[in-house]
Amino acid sequence: MLKKVILPERQLEEDIDLAERPDINIASAWENYWSKTYNLSNPILWDSNAEKAAALDLPRFKDLMSPQLPLIDMACGNGTQTRFLADHFPRLIGVDVAQSAVEMAQKHNSAPNIEYRTLDALKPEQATALHVEIGDANIYMRTGFHHISPEHRDRFAQSLKILLGKTGILYLIELGAGATDYLNSLIELYGEPPRELALVIEHGIRPGDITEEKIKDFFPDCEILDSGEDFLYSDADLQLLEGGFKIPTFYAVIKHK
Ligand SMILES: C[S@@+](CC[C@H](N)C(=O)[O-])C[C@H]1O[C@@H](n2cnc3c(N)ncnc32)[C@H](O)[C@@H]1O
Repeated sequence: MLKKVILPERQLEEDIDLAERPDINIASAWENYWSKTYNLSNPILWDSNAEKAAALDLPRFKDLMSPQLPLIDMACGNGTQTRFLADHFPRLIGVDVAQSAVEMAQKHNSAPNIEYRTLDALKPEQATALHVEIGDANIYMRTGFHHISPEHRDRFAQSLKILLGKTGILYLIELGAGATDYLNSLIELYGEPPRELALVIEHGIRPGDITEEKIKDFFPDCEILDSGEDFLYSDADLQLLEGGFKIPTFYAVIKHK
């Protein structure tokens, strides 16, 4: 539950329905988001110290993933979580559709065992090329999937399956049931989208929610080793919120049957 600390004085100028998805080119939208973020040092809604993010995820998958395989951080953004994971796995490959995100990650979150690359998961041929180069890989994905339009998610899932091959393990943590309601109540609380959220939705990017049923549909030939509900925390300074940003998530550990 969100708790109001100060009453907002501003009123919504127009209703914003986060469930409505504008028709956008997702790759350009994210590139525009990240180039503005990089150039203007804008705050990032989901960015969090790894202690409140990948470090909480790690015990759910570390022992299941072979360290012989590279670990891909799919949709790695600015690489905050990639950098943490590189302390726990021998080889990390952070990939993102946005060149500006990759540049930011290289600048702020590099390590000798991390390689950052651009890759568009909506183009499975790019996943095939990477798989030919590196073989099967494990994958970590933190909120890389939920914002993809439902009609394109199959293609994104296909890329993940290509990269996993027969032996890789996928850990995903995505916005879950109730996430869009949480963001809508945040807009109501503030009287408008808080800046961190506005900076994302101004590009037409919209949140989605991922559930166990949807995961079973996208990965019919895979086995779910573990799954559950949790929250995603953020370092974003949302001052009206007691306890900070805390949005519902769904996580799962998946492998080929
Ligand atoms: C909510 S951010 C999460 C970033 C990072 N995983 C984290 O937790 O900080 C979603 C990321 O997905 C990336 N992305 C969007 N569409 C993609 C695609 N088709 N292929 C690869 N990455 C994509 C965006 O550029 C963005 O960095």
